[in-house]
Amino acid sequence: MADHYFSAEPTSADVRRTVEARIWGREYTFTTATGVFSRDRLDLGTSVLLREVAPPTGGGTILDLGTGYGPIACALAVEAPDAQIWAVDVNTRALELTAENAKAAGVAKRVHPALVDDVPADLRFDQIWSNPAIHIGKPELHKMLLHWLARLAPDGVGWFVVGKNLGADSLQRWLTDQGYPCERIASAKGFRVLRVTATNAGPAPS
Ligand SMILES: C[S@@+](CC[C@H](N)C(=O)[O-])C[C@H]1O[C@@H](n2cnc3c(N)ncnc32)[C@H](O)[C@@H]1O
Repeated sequence: MADHYFSAEPTSADVRRTVEARIWGREYTFTTATGVFSRDRLDLGTSVLLREVAPPTGGGTILDLGTGYGPIACALAVEAPDAQIWAVDVNTRALELTAENAKAAGVAKRVHPALVDDVPADLRFDQIWSNPAIHIGKPELHKMLLHWLARLAPDGVGWFVVGKNLGADSLQRWLTDQGYPCERIASAKGFRVLRVTATNAGPAPS
């Protein structure tokens, strides 16, 4: 079967290339590869998210949910020098690239690439950042979001970017209905940027 970017272990040849990106005023050169999401450039949705939301500058524990080759995780770690960033994905090649990119950006000690089940169960997140994998389908997407939102600290916040044509508005309503108030804070280039809070947080993490 052909690889999807969310394949656990891509079977395609691991052909590397580099991508230049400017994030929050800084230049990055990321290594990407076949079998990983948006290997040819910083994804447009990701770039909308990073343009519309100011970076955190303090400490805390932050989750990059669906890190891909790690552009969000690396940029967060650079901007927030006291923060610990958990960069989660299901794709092992993506996690290898995230580790390399974190090293290249000088933030490898604070970026923790991890498979979903390897994140310590007692960790709580002050922020969640994500360009979530909408293509995994609604049931999986909802399961994934509820799993991680339950780990938001009580005053935590989630920042998500979702394509308008990929159900951003219905996802916004669904999140609010689940007890995670969700507001649209920006709309650009066909994407919505959503802010989710932990007020009335749902069930405790399992
Ligand atoms: C839209 S891509 C975004 C990648 C990266 N953050 C970026 O901006 O380029 C979504 C990522 O989520 C990952 N993913 C898919 N299912 C997942 C799951 N259940 N848990 C965590 N990550 C998942 C995919 O492998 C993919 O790398």
